[in-house]
Amino acid sequence: MPANKPAISPSIKNQTRTSPCLVRLKIVNRMRKIIIAIDGYSACGKSTTALEVARVLNYRYIDSGAMYRAVTLYFLDKHVALTNPREVSRALQEIKVSFVVNSKGISEVFLNGINVEKEIRRMRISENVSQVSTIREVRLAMVEQQRRMGKDCGVVMDGRDIGTVVFPQAELKIFLTADMLVRAFRRQKELLLHDDLVDIDTIVENLQQRDSIDSNRAESPLRKADDAIGIDTTHITIDEQVDEVVRLALAKMILQPKPKA
Ligand code: CDP
Repeated sequence: MPANKPAISPSIKNQTRTSPCLVRLKIVNRMRKIIIAIDGYSACGKSTTALEVARVLNYRYIDSGAMYRAVTLYFLDKHVALTNPREVSRALQEIKVSFVVNSKGISEVFLNGINVEKEIRRMRISENVSQVSTIREVRLAMVEQQRRMGKDCGVVMDGRDIGTVVFPQAELKIFLTADMLVRAFRRQKELLLHDDLVDIDTIVENLQQRDSIDSNRAESPLRKADDAIGIDTTHITIDEQVDEVVRLALAKMILQPKPKA
């Protein structure tokens, strides 16, 4: 070190390095962790919003739809007879669905140790996932796993039945909606990112069919929980959606200060 340069004490050095973001994160980390449930129709922006909200709050993000998609992939590949409960139960015992956070901080879904993140987003899975999701045995297995994943709180989970069945006690429940055509164009753009070129009519048909199966099934149908806050995302940007959910979450976290140890 040059003789004329004063030495900086380690504590001052550390202070100058603490960014406003870090200060905010430290405050958020000190607040009580809550469960945030984001439900709604397909392609309303649930996953994108949930992922970003989790990142801002330093929460764990769980894409419950990805779990149903992974099960569907397995069932299709193994030709599991969906109408045979014994075959379904046996297949479920052979399946392990897990999430691994990649180097970009994004959670990816693994099926029996294999990364299937890309495969499960394809149309062939979208065309079958809602049928698979009506099966009682499948729902029981997934809901049990989802509850285990969220038991320590500090979690954002998106899906169809998170606020109604998986975490009816969630402190914050959001229900997203958007116009059909806007949803279809968003989904088409997403599929293109995975090199899947699908025409808009096929996507609209798939979304309508899934909405109908998801809303009318006997087991935990898609519906807005009585205490969920509705957000129509048709005319707002992802940033606006995220800001709104973070604002609502912080209000809940402030209302519930962390108890003294
Ligand atoms: O991404 P997108 O909104 O199209 O759907 P997803 O969240 O990946 O979910 C795919 C399908 O899984 C849905 O259409 C539902 O049939 C089923 N699902 C469900 O039944 N319950 C959940 N909690 C999440 C998804």
